[in-house]
Amino acid sequence: MGKFIWLCQIRSLLFVLFFLSVVDCCLSLSSSSLNPTPSCLPEDTSALLQFKNTMSIDDSAFYSYCYPKTNSWNESTNCCSWEGVTCEKATGQVISLDLTCSKLVGSLSPNTTLVRLRGLKRLDLSLNNFNASSIPSGFNQLISLTHLNLSGSYLGGSVPLNIYLLSKLISLDLSGNDQLKFDSHGFDMLTRNLSKLENLLLDSVNMSDVVPTSFMNFRSSLKRLSLEFCDLNIPAWVPRVC
Ligand SMILES: *[C@@H]1O[C@H](CO)[C@@H](O)[C@H](O)[C@H]1NC(C)=O
Ligand SMILES: *[C@@H]1O[C@H](CO)[C@@H](O)[C@H](O)[C@H]1NC(C)=O
Ligand SMILES: *[C@@H]1O[C@H](CO)[C@@H](O)[C@H](O)[C@H]1NC(C)=O
Ligand SMILES: *[C@@H]1O[C@H](CO)[C@@H](O)[C@H](O)[C@H]1NC(C)=O
Ligand SMILES: *[C@@H]1O[C@H](CO)[C@@H](O)[C@H](O)[C@H]1NC(C)=O
Ligand SMILES: *[C@@H]1O[C@H](CO)[C@@H](O)[C@H](O)[C@H]1NC(C)=O
Repeated sequence: MGKFIWLCQIRSLLFVLFFLSVVDCCLSLSSSSLNPTPSCLPEDTSALLQFKNTMSIDDSAFYSYCYPKTNSWNESTNCCSWEGVTCEKATGQVISLDLTCSKLVGSLSPNTTLVRLRGLKRLDLSLNNFNASSIPSGFNQLISLTHLNLSGSYLGGSVPLNIYLLSKLISLDLSGNDQLKFDSHGFDMLTRNLSKLENLLLDSVNMSDVVPTSFMNFRSSLKRLSLEFCDLNIPAWVPRVC
């Protein structure tokens, strides 16, 4: 009987030791793996820095409530730690760039280095001043994009035809760019090809050339469509958020 109790004590002692070592192992694991910052890819770093160099910071009162995120971008630091930049944990690839309201002013070139960020899923350049330049036609290379927000950033010209190639787009916000125009053909291609689109916000975009019947082509199940001040007669059955 005494021997049995002794054995039990040893077993519980061993169990406690085992438990402690598991806890210790988990603690050390979590302290090292708790949000480690991945290392940025050199090509992504240079694409971001080159983009920064094509832009100036607008310190006018108009953007006083905005904040220049790119000021923290420094080539001697890991781009995954820069403001507005998010990298994929495993690969270090830049997957999200959020430069909303960053006091950026300058023209976006059709071959902007941003198109080299091939892993990009989310791109938000809203509330900046792109000086009536066009949406870069090279954006069609960002084939992983699911969310694109270019609202209120003073873009002009026609929406590039090839935007329909961004077949993974779930959300597209081009609202608040009153110099921007959708051509009839371009809009038609968009409605037919962007089959995952849920949010489409085009307030103030010039849609005067768009034929309303295009809205019957939507292959996706739109959840939100916003078309205030678009110069367009929208069929009554089209869902809207007002
Ligand atoms: C980048 O960081 C280094 C080291 O912290 C600093 O010496 C340098 O001035 C910074 N460069 C810019 C452009 O901020
Ligand atoms: C804005 O565009 C105009 C004409 O297209 C150009 O002269 C001017 O330098 C541009 N400004 C900036 C900040 O890029
Ligand atoms: C983009 O194109 C312009 C004009 O064709 C050229 O001056 C510029 O160097 C190009 N930029 C890049 C990053 O290739
Ligand atoms: C796009 O950005 C603007 C300004 O930051 C924001 O108000 C709007 O909700 C965004 N659009 C979407 C679809 O998230
Ligand atoms: C886009 O839609 C058009 C018209 O439905 C179709 O002919 C074309 O093949 C589609 N393109 C792609 C890349 O899906
Ligand atoms: C929209 O574009 C057309 C040309 O396609 C132009 O005549 C019209 O003035 C534009 N509307 C606005 C509000 O800028």
